[in-house]
Amino acid sequence: MNVLVIGSGGREHALCWSIAASPLLEKLWCAPGNPGIAAVATCVDIAALDIVALVAFAQDNAIDLVIPGPEAPLVAGITDAMEAAGIACFGPTAAAAQLEGSKSFTKGITDAVSIPTALWERFEDAASARAFIRRRGAPIVVKADGLTAGKGVVVATTEDEAMAAIDAMMDQQVFGASGAAVVIEECLVGEEVSLFALCDGEDALVLGSARDYKRVGDGDTGPNTGGMGAFTPVTNFPPVLEQACLEQIIRPALKEMVRRGTPFRGILYAGLMLAEDGAKLIEFNVRFGDPECQVLLLRLKSDLLSAFQAACEGELRNFDLRWHDTAAIAVVMAARGYPDAPEQGSVIRGLDHAARPGVEIFCAGAAAGPDAALLAAGGRVLTVCATGPTLASAHDLVYAAIDAIQWTEGFCRLDIGAGAA
Ligand code: AMP
Ligand code: GLY
Repeated sequence: MNVLVIGSGGREHALCWSIAASPLLEKLWCAPGNPGIAAVATCVDIAALDIVALVAFAQDNAIDLVIPGPEAPLVAGITDAMEAAGIACFGPTAAAAQLEGSKSFTKGITDAVSIPTALWERFEDAASARAFIRRRGAPIVVKADGLTAGKGVVVATTEDEAMAAIDAMMDQQVFGASGAAVVIEECLVGEEVSLFALCDGEDALVLGSARDYKRVGDGDTGPNTGGMGAFTPVTNFPPVLEQACLEQIIRPALKEMVRRGTPFRGILYAGLMLAEDGAKLIEFNVRFGDPECQVLLLRLKSDLLSAFQAACEGELRNFDLRWHDTAAIAVVMAARGYPDAPEQGSVIRGLDHAARPGVEIFCAGAAAGPDAALLAAGGRVLTVCATGPTLASAHDLVYAAIDAIQWTEGFCRLDIGAGAA
């Protein structure tokens, strides 16, 4: 098969790394890719959102399967455009990508099929939103209804904080049209876990689950980021609970999407809160998480390309996934100043010294520098990953590899997997 992966992050490097090992693969392309991806795929200089150019490239190069990594091209309709051109694309249509693109759309699905989630209400005017907050009191969660690059959620511990969120989103419109409506939710308490399911429209298979670390600083402090680390498996979310959530959360959502005439195919990522009275859905995303993808693929024994092909053909019913009996951990190395203003252009050396059995280093916001060095060219720059027989061994291995990397202008969290290891 000729395959085109779309994106340029550590997630897409891991996807390319895994697909490059597939016996089904003939030629692998990645648009736009990065210097790490260039070692396993041919990078093409087309932006992930340039759908017209991507379709033309896929046609000219006899691409058999397109695999978009990030949500933006999915929400913008890349799957619809590829399929209209007769090219298979593993990802949801724009209509099905609403599961990530609109919080109230997802809440409508959860209500229609009784998926356990936080009680909620949607408001289009600030006065009713404020009255609701006064009635319910704190803690309470205020969310902009549209896409806000992960910044539109305020978990308010006081009523004043919740009111300030309404001021910002609805009066000052800091998120533009995405905050014109808000969803206000009950505050859930518990441990968070991310569940990933491979979906073919009708059926779904668990691809694994992971704990991720969204805050920039050790001990979950500082601003939210795209993700600073992850590990899998999660001890208090064993396979029996994964299967229960597949039945109670993923499958009912798929069924409702079919009923609405917009079946979901692709990766459905459920952000869950393990509350005292059971797992509850916080949100859906319509793609792999980054860096969760990296750890999931390190544990996957089955051929990823065959799995994507089966999902595209609606054949998951007869498919079976297998995993290595290991733990995997990912630590993101970011440029100083991330997430607000990452410093660009610093030199990263020593990646060859960091290489050792059980370690994989995936590249994200980096450019090729002199003498096999890399230059920081983004916020999240590397994902350093390790596998081992236990999480503790993977934890020790990943930080040993990080110690060998020479990059004084970079930083990482030092507590990924620590509490659980
Ligand atoms: P979201 O963008 O919806 O994933 O929300 C971002 C983060 O806010 C989540 O990962 C949770 O940590 C937190 N959060 C969202 N909704 C709730 C809720 N109803 N109760 C408690 N925390 C929440
Ligand atoms: N790491 C969280 C995400 O990809 O959304």
